[in-house]
Amino acid sequence: EALAVITIDGPSGVGKSTISRKVARVLGFTYLDTGAMYRAVGLFLQWNRVDLSDDQAMRSILAKIHIQLLPGKNEDDDTGVLLNGEDVSGTIRTPEMAMVASKVSAIPLVREKLTMLQRQLGNIGGVVAEGRDTGTVVFPRARYKFFLDARPEERARRRVRQLCMRGEAVDERKILEMTLERDKNDRERAIAPLRQAEDAWVIDTTSRDIDEVTHLVLEVIRAGR
Ligand code: C5P
Repeated sequence: EALAVITIDGPSGVGKSTISRKVARVLGFTYLDTGAMYRAVGLFLQWNRVDLSDDQAMRSILAKIHIQLLPGKNEDDDTGVLLNGEDVSGTIRTPEMAMVASKVSAIPLVREKLTMLQRQLGNIGGVVAEGRDTGTVVFPRARYKFFLDARPEERARRRVRQLCMRGEAVDERKILEMTLERDKNDRERAIAPLRQAEDAWVIDTTSRDIDEVTHLVLEVIRAGR
């Protein structure tokens, strides 16, 4: 039987987070930002200067990570994170931490830990899960799966705009490069690579705004398709 979970996957800069938050709010579901978890683990491993190839060191450090997600107060707010009690909400949202997250997300032990945690949070149902592998690996029995995509230049442009709104100075070409590199990592890794589930609804967001895509997603759900 299908799980009362909606998954929204895709590369960076397709509008996944904003759309997931909106869909969750309309349906009264909980938004589960799985990327925030990978970012937090990346930060913790960086803080502790762990040798990523040392399985034993990785196991022991991963056992010490406690992640708590803090839902944003406003609809536009990113999910915050308490990492072992420390608020790292701002720290994890830089382009550099996104790259670190992408790097550590290819490590089997990291994925094992976070996938388990995500299932614990999602298996009760009433969740909109957002990430790269939520429809393919974390919740393969999700009732509705969506895969959002958009042209790379447009995705980079959106990232730039996001960073600008946060008051950060950004180099557009650099962002495009980092976006492409991160997606390549995410698509080509051996475990749980970024790809659309066979039973996912694919939506190209290149020339659609947030409200249009949100509407499309809600239409599919309301029609019970
Ligand atoms: O979505 P966000 O940009 O916060 O994700 C950061 C990184 O975390 C991604 O580039 C990806 O490498 C990793 N990630 C993942 N699986 C997920 C969510 C995120 O590997 N379900």
